[in-house]
Amino acid sequence: MTAFALEGVGLVRRYGGFTALDDVSLRLEPGEIRGLIGPNGAGKSTLMDTLCGRGGSTGGRVVLKGRDISGLSAEARRRAGLARSFQKTNIFPALTVKEQVALAARAAETDNTDEVLDALGLSHLARHRAADIAYGDQRRLDLALALVGRPSVLLLDEPAAGLSIKESIVLARLLKDLAGSWNVTVLLVEHDMEVIFTVSDRITVLNLGKVLAEGTREEIRANPEVVRAYLGSSVS
Ligand SMILES: Nc1ncnc2c1ncn2[C@@H]1O[C@H](COP(=O)(O)OP(=O)(O)OP(=O)(O)O)[C@@H](O)[C@H]1O
Ligand SMILES: [Mg+2]
Repeated sequence: MTAFALEGVGLVRRYGGFTALDDVSLRLEPGEIRGLIGPNGAGKSTLMDTLCGRGGSTGGRVVLKGRDISGLSAEARRRAGLARSFQKTNIFPALTVKEQVALAARAAETDNTDEVLDALGLSHLARHRAADIAYGDQRRLDLALALVGRPSVLLLDEPAAGLSIKESIVLARLLKDLAGSWNVTVLLVEHDMEVIFTVSDRITVLNLGKVLAEGTREEIRANPEVVRAYLGSSVS
């Protein structure tokens, strides 16, 4: 039996008396792109935090390629091959594009800076300061930082935030190509349904800290509970 790329089993996260994640489980097949959707405050970012070891957990297990990593720090999980990007950009404006990627490579104890710059189409901007490049390039730089060291699993929290629909689709296609050629498994949070339906193999819907549904895009689109809680009239 082959191991799942990433498993979260019975994850619980509480903030004081508030339960932000309530017994959430998910299993990602190697190489799949999983869309993670749900209303604001559903717990999507909290789930990513919990999977990657930020802010602690109040229950459950995280298993990476068959290995229980629940006891590892975020840094150790990163070195084990679990990377993430953040909802807000994570870049240092004063550093050059290449310096930032090199810094991330050092932290991940690898050196594939040039490969990553090339894969994200950023080589020609290597010597530019991050503050001076276009916003769309900054978003690709964010992705580059997460891809350093060729992680086996990538958690992406709204990587296309602030981009136009057209730019978002271009970024999503790039992501899909990379996931295929580098064999990366991706968990993708994204509010735009066109982007989610374009790239996701399967979709998980969170609502009020629980998994409301999981399935193919057709199943998710046709699920009345999902439509009621989230999709509303945004898909036809
Ligand atoms: N540090 C915290 N302390 C207290 N409550 C928090 C904290 N972080 C998140 N929450 C709460 O947990 C719930 C889930 O938040 P989370 O940020 O995971 O939602 P989300 O699905 O990522 O939403 P969005 O789509 O707006 O990014 C929300 O009700 C939020 O207010
Ligand atoms: Mg969020």
